[in-house]
Amino acid sequence: PKVIFSGIQPTGIPHLGNYLGALKQWVKLQDEAAPDTTLLFSIVDLHAITIKQDPKALAKWKKEMLASLYAVGIKKERSIVFFQSAVPQHAELMWILSCNASMGYLSRMTQWKSKLALPDNASPLDPSPVSKAALKLGLFSYPVLQAADILLYQTTHVPVGEDQAQHLEFARELAVGFNHMFAPDAKSPLLVPPQTILSSAKRVMSLTTPTKKMSKSDPEPKSRILITDSNEVIHKKFKSALTDSIDGNAYDRESRPGVSNLIDIMRHMDEDITGSDKEWMKELEGLSKRSLKETAADRVNNGLKDVRGRYEEIMGRKDADEFLEEGARQGGEKARKLAQQTIGKVREALGIA
Ligand code: TYM
Repeated sequence: PKVIFSGIQPTGIPHLGNYLGALKQWVKLQDEAAPDTTLLFSIVDLHAITIKQDPKALAKWKKEMLASLYAVGIKKERSIVFFQSAVPQHAELMWILSCNASMGYLSRMTQWKSKLALPDNASPLDPSPVSKAALKLGLFSYPVLQAADILLYQTTHVPVGEDQAQHLEFARELAVGFNHMFAPDAKSPLLVPPQTILSSAKRVMSLTTPTKKMSKSDPEPKSRILITDSNEVIHKKFKSALTDSIDGNAYDRESRPGVSNLIDIMRHMDEDITGSDKEWMKELEGLSKRSLKETAADRVNNGLKDVRGRYEEIMGRKDADEFLEEGARQGGEKARKLAQQTIGKVREALGIA
């Protein structure tokens, strides 16, 4: 049977990149899953603290993320939704894996290198623009914790956006190497190498700088749409989106990144479009930039208004805090049970049972 696992950082209310690149796909997988498929969705608070966090803000963002997952349609009766830190086996497996993780491989990870802000072909002699003293071990071993998240549940499939593909490749290599080392003759693998499922909206770009991906860490709030933004805010943000001054609209990510990003967003908001792609593009071709942006804003608002309604309903409950805490508690309990099975086998294989 399939096991689907994915994670998201507790960054408060998710943006459109999270939604189209990951969450929308999670819901679809959940709603179409066979009865014997297990689904786990984790809010990865241990990953969040690899960079400096304000403890009060982090606690609030965890709640907002949990409410957001429920609001987009993840059902706690069907999927296991939990905070990573509620399951100590994540940290335990991470330690075990880190004793088998290659430093060379980890230092080639794009996300680590971007944190170092070194060019791709950096030589060890290049001066680093960030202070080395500010870099923490946890940031370097981030992908090992991510591998532990996945391998802990014998996960077969991981739905993510493109920026996570390299981390998943690393998780597969770790699993294969680990099995080879500690269970070479086992009939079924000790750790399951997972498959990546990339959503078709694998890389949603920033509205203000469409050559960068839409991201929570962008200092410009207008660069991203939050899934709870009001119709008015959505329209304002699209209105100030960067496009170009070429007449007519055509899809070309290289030469027309702004226009192409708007087209991509519209296409992925609404599944019905894919069937009649060509006709639909014809309609957009002749629109002024202003109407193109308005059309995009309308479509995004239509796609998000139910999510927004459900979010407000959850947060507006008198017992919102208890409701969320109880949901998280139940999810954590279910996840711990599953995690214990894998950890038991791993400990045995290592001789530390
Ligand atoms: P995070 O929290 O940055 O993002 C959550 C999900 O959203 C996707 N995503 C995007 N997709 C398309 N376009 C964008 N602009 C965009 N921005 C974000 C991400 O690809 C991701 O699927 N390391 C992970 C969290 C994690 C995880 C895991 C994921 C921890 N353990 C195990 C899968 C399996 C992260 O920081 O995602």
